[in-house]
Amino acid sequence: MPTPPSSPLPLVVLLSGRGSNFQALLHAIQAGRLNAVIRAVISNRPGAAGLAMADQAGISTAVVDHREYEDRESYDTALRIAIDAHAPALVVLAGFMRILTPAFVRHYEGRLINIHPSLLPRFRGLDTHARALQEGVTEHGASVHYVTEELDGGPVILQARVAVHPGDTEELLAVRVLKEEHRLYPAAVELIASGRIRWREHRVWLDGKPLETPLLLDHDLQSIP
Ligand code: GAR
Repeated sequence: MPTPPSSPLPLVVLLSGRGSNFQALLHAIQAGRLNAVIRAVISNRPGAAGLAMADQAGISTAVVDHREYEDRESYDTALRIAIDAHAPALVVLAGFMRILTPAFVRHYEGRLINIHPSLLPRFRGLDTHARALQEGVTEHGASVHYVTEELDGGPVILQARVAVHPGDTEELLAVRVLKEEHRLYPAAVELIASGRIRWREHRVWLDGKPLETPLLLDHDLQSIP
């Protein structure tokens, strides 16, 4: 007998702006390439373009505006309540430009992932493309990682590489990396949705074995459509 399809992984997406990674996840779900459902999109910025896109797609949205809270602790508590109202199995940071408190990160241990525009552990933090060019690297890219208390320091699941070309500008490189991010994030979430990637005993497992080094898109994951 064929095995019944597993139920879609419930997600909550957090974003602060444009929302193109959220859109890539949504498209992958709509195309049947990602077995997940986006229960809500939450932003710290009322004007975030990603909120309007979610609205149009009939996805529940919420704003938890950081300017209305006195400190990080009270903000993160309000954010946690807004997220948990949707009971997600996975919280997906998609350009959510806030530093999260240790208590928040601990609450979501193993259920919180982020996409970052560099080949971590290189270029944590901001302005990754400019710093990559300054350093003269020949290879750059993006990473999806579990979030831990160390900023951009949690274990990496999957990466995509792009070549740096002579004459590249920050803008050109950003466009090339973002295009890869849009393939990378759905592929990484699908690894979790399918149960191939799991978080157990404070570490990442792939197919029941500890994941020692990040997977590389198009190299370790030929079969992602
Ligand atoms: C993406 O490039 C993402 O990697 C980056 O913000 C952008 C959001 O774009 N995230 C970080 O820098 C997190 N440290 P989007 O709103 O179009 O998805």
